[in-house]
Amino acid sequence: MYRSKTCGELRLADVNNEVTLAGWVARVRKMGGMTFIDLRDRYGITQLSFNQEVDHDLFEQANKLGREFVVQITGKVAERSSKNPNIPTGEIEIIVSQLKVLNQAKTPPFTIETDTDGGDDIRMKYRYLDLRRNVVRKNLELRHKMAFETRRYLDERGFLEVETPVLIGSTPEGARDFIVPSRMNQGEFYALPQSPQLFKQLLMVSGFDRYFQIVKCFRDEDLRADRQPEFTQIDCEMSFVQQDDVLNTFEGLTKHLFKTVIGIDLPDFPRMSYADAMKNYGSDKPDIRFGMKFVELKDLTEGHDFVVFDSAGYVGGICAEGCASYTRKQLDELTDFVKRPQIGAKGLIYVRYNEDGSLKSSVDKFYSEEDLRQWAERFGAKPGDLMLVLAGETEKTQKQLSELRLEMGSRLELRDKNNYKCLWVVDFPLLEKDEELNRFFAKHHPFTSPKPEDIPLLDSDPAAVRANAYDLVINGVEIGGGSIRIHNSDLQKKMFSVLGFTEERAQEQFGFLMNAFQYGAPPHGGIAFGLDRFVSIFAGLDSIRDCIAFPKNNAGRDVMIDAPARVEQEQLDELGILLAPQPRK
Ligand code: AMO
Repeated sequence: MYRSKTCGELRLADVNNEVTLAGWVARVRKMGGMTFIDLRDRYGITQLSFNQEVDHDLFEQANKLGREFVVQITGKVAERSSKNPNIPTGEIEIIVSQLKVLNQAKTPPFTIETDTDGGDDIRMKYRYLDLRRNVVRKNLELRHKMAFETRRYLDERGFLEVETPVLIGSTPEGARDFIVPSRMNQGEFYALPQSPQLFKQLLMVSGFDRYFQIVKCFRDEDLRADRQPEFTQIDCEMSFVQQDDVLNTFEGLTKHLFKTVIGIDLPDFPRMSYADAMKNYGSDKPDIRFGMKFVELKDLTEGHDFVVFDSAGYVGGICAEGCASYTRKQLDELTDFVKRPQIGAKGLIYVRYNEDGSLKSSVDKFYSEEDLRQWAERFGAKPGDLMLVLAGETEKTQKQLSELRLEMGSRLELRDKNNYKCLWVVDFPLLEKDEELNRFFAKHHPFTSPKPEDIPLLDSDPAAVRANAYDLVINGVEIGGGSIRIHNSDLQKKMFSVLGFTEERAQEQFGFLMNAFQYGAPPHGGIAFGLDRFVSIFAGLDSIRDCIAFPKNNAGRDVMIDAPARVEQEQLDELGILLAPQPRK
């Protein structure tokens, strides 16, 4: 027996019991004739105590232990004289009578503590050591709990977990695919799934009725804090459902997770149309922890010879409560913020509603105090508030204003990580036009059904067609998205034609789906949540990397195993792959 207890469970009630523990040496503190060791395992830290006078040899042995040695000890639980209220085992220590080194360890390249001295790169290279840190492991424990509770909730509601293949064919829509060469079919390639979308729809044709899978998905996209090339979805599909059925089921799942994992009871989630989200927040994933809705001013600003406003399709702003006292420097910072290339505004106009009731703006040359008072009224502003206004092409300006709103929300500390606000965004447009290519793309994916009442618009005004598509947004993060699908092969054909597929290409790419739809496809719909993002929200993380055991860095590399890497020429030959000469790194 390696141990009778873990390093996290001993309390005062265990005093005088003999126990055997095993774990890693986290810290050795030598205090004259006494040596104290913090022994760590997954469950916690227990203090070991060695007294020179009681057992000199054992004391000497303990003094020779290095950080991260793996040891086994036996000893008696004793009450500590100086207690540590910060850890659950802080009232006891072990008076060690036997010590065995199970394995030695090189000195780790960084300290394995909550506040480590290791930078990002070194911790990623030695991720197995990083994972020994409490803070990192906690995120993975949370992830386990969420996956487990998801399975429980869905199982209780009749969902079956079905595995779908990882080696599939490449499809042209969506993000870029990761491609896998086939040795047995030289010159042909598999692709890794961006999601199990087609398979889950086929399972509905097969009559599975309710499917789910906690599943790895792969997308060859540029990485950001909330994107990894391989990530995990809670992927679901249901038959004989309408939008409300899906939303209610997955609002239920979300509430269940909040309740069982972090003990929070959530009220029902509001639903907002995509059109309202864009108009009021300039974003399809608004952070509704705070207000600061957009106010449109175009009509009020016209006829004052101010070219910037007169030439703009959109003039709108936000009202920052209590910010009239912002200094020149603070306003310059905000102006620099909106002018950053990532945001791209040309400038920022402000109106101060001073405490004394006077109004002062950066465009006083064009607008009188009376004009500004009209603006203030529309903003619902009161003395002490600051109005910030942007102008330009409608969509671009709304996006810029959205960034400014989030920035002001952060500055005013209105985005508390422990305050959770969930929202359904519904009625997404079906299509999105790529102006450069002059063609439409599916906003969600090509299997999403248009709203029945909008189907006639498919020919006359495709951009106006709304979809039965929805996203779950929590605190401004898109956690999940889904739709009611097309289940009629004629409508699916029509959709492919609007997307510019020739009949042959549609047949080649998605023929199996359209054929399947001819054999009795039930009405169906579904959704997928991004598990990594969901866990990050619960854990208050800034990057989803921190809740993934072995993540990729921003260049898409796993620096620990050094992947991607070159392969032997022999392997390439077997695959029939000829590489253009590459410079050796
Ligand atoms: P969608 O593409 O919206 O929908 O993806 C669903 C959710 O997956 C998460 N996600 C990601 N998480 C981390 N890294 C990424 N690169 C990444 N890409 C997406 C997001 C997103 O909301 N098949 C459809 C779902 C459906 O229609 O049922 C789909 O994949 O949280």
